[in-house]
Amino acid sequence: MTLAAGSPLLQGEVPDDLMGPINVHEFEEVARRKMHKLAYDFIAGGVEDELTLRANRAAYEHVYLMPRVMTDVSTVSLETELLGMKLASPILIAPTGGKSLVIQNADEIVARAALASKTLICSATGVQKILEKGEPLLWWSNTIGAATKAQARGYARRVEDGGGKAITLTVDNQYQSNRDRNNRNRFDYGYMQSGVPKEGAPKPPPRSPALPAMWQPHTPQMTWEQIGWFKDGSKMPLIVKGIVNPEDAALAVKHGADAIVVSNHGGRQLDGVIGTLDALPDCVDAVGGKVPVLMDGGLRRGTDILKALALGAKAVLVGRAPLWGLGAFGQPGAERVLWMLNAELKLAMGLAGMAKMSDISRTIVKRRLG
Ligand SMILES: Cc1cc2nc3c(=O)[nH]c(=O)nc-3n(C[C@H](O)[C@H](O)[C@H](O)COP(=O)(O)O)c2cc1C
Repeated sequence: MTLAAGSPLLQGEVPDDLMGPINVHEFEEVARRKMHKLAYDFIAGGVEDELTLRANRAAYEHVYLMPRVMTDVSTVSLETELLGMKLASPILIAPTGGKSLVIQNADEIVARAALASKTLICSATGVQKILEKGEPLLWWSNTIGAATKAQARGYARRVEDGGGKAITLTVDNQYQSNRDRNNRNRFDYGYMQSGVPKEGAPKPPPRSPALPAMWQPHTPQMTWEQIGWFKDGSKMPLIVKGIVNPEDAALAVKHGADAIVVSNHGGRQLDGVIGTLDALPDCVDAVGGKVPVLMDGGLRRGTDILKALALGAKAVLVGRAPLWGLGAFGQPGAERVLWMLNAELKLAMGLAGMAKMSDISRTIVKRRLG
């Protein structure tokens, strides 16, 4: 079985330093050592006590694989069809704001890594220059909503004209969340514009812990009607990102969503939210096959991804993983992480007796009760 696929790094040209980390966890460690603490904490951190951040990872520990044997797995294909798009892999890049804290121009660099590794990228920014050149970047835009129907329509048209293949609407961002690590570091959201802070630079003055500082509205007015607003403006699919409750999964479909992403924003919004792998099966059941269900949260291994696919995800998104590659070695690092995840998934499928996406089903997983 050959593990080779899209990225140039797969053809054997792996720079020496990239050979150091052997998995995503180790890429994170290299990135952590290279990055300013404030930037590392911003990316790595969750909200408040980080219960949900941990729940996302813990969920993979209580779902077990039950591989099949004696199936012909001499070739394993990750090819996936999603919303009429043919994808080389079910692993997509999740939208992550604030990447410029990792390195300058990070949005475009990650988009270039996506292009090089034939990975679909979901992003609010950083893709224009690449698409303007006619490069075959697979891009879904990401938005947190619009104030009016006219704005939503205009946005959808611009995305479609700009080469977007779908719109993802993030719905779990009603307020700025309460992130203890950022508060402890006196993190200032202005850094997202000003870029990576220099090591030893003076910290901004402490922010008031009073309620107003904890009550920054982002999209508190958003309701289901926004799905229709965006859909009116283009022919592209509209994907709702940020659902964990099966009732919302059903409502999203009822209001016209073409797909949903089971996501808790990587544990960065409301603490105490269920881990996404645990939330996935009920959401899949609630949707009842009417639209594809995607998921993200805590994916660091090919086996994590196989479990998500087995529990009904049609594709998955990775948020922090490519950023650890980026923080460790820039664009080659991000590509290497994407390659590793694809290689691990391919190998996991081979060892689980699954030759193609459609072979994967719930029969290959068991959830530990209690
Ligand atoms: C640094 C960072 C910034 C993020 N920014 C956004 C964002 O702007 N919009 C959004 O929908 N999700 C955002 N997310 C959440 C991701 O899209 C995704 O849901 C999450 O990272 C998945 O979990 P993982 O990081 O464990 O893979 C962000 C996540 C991180 C780590």
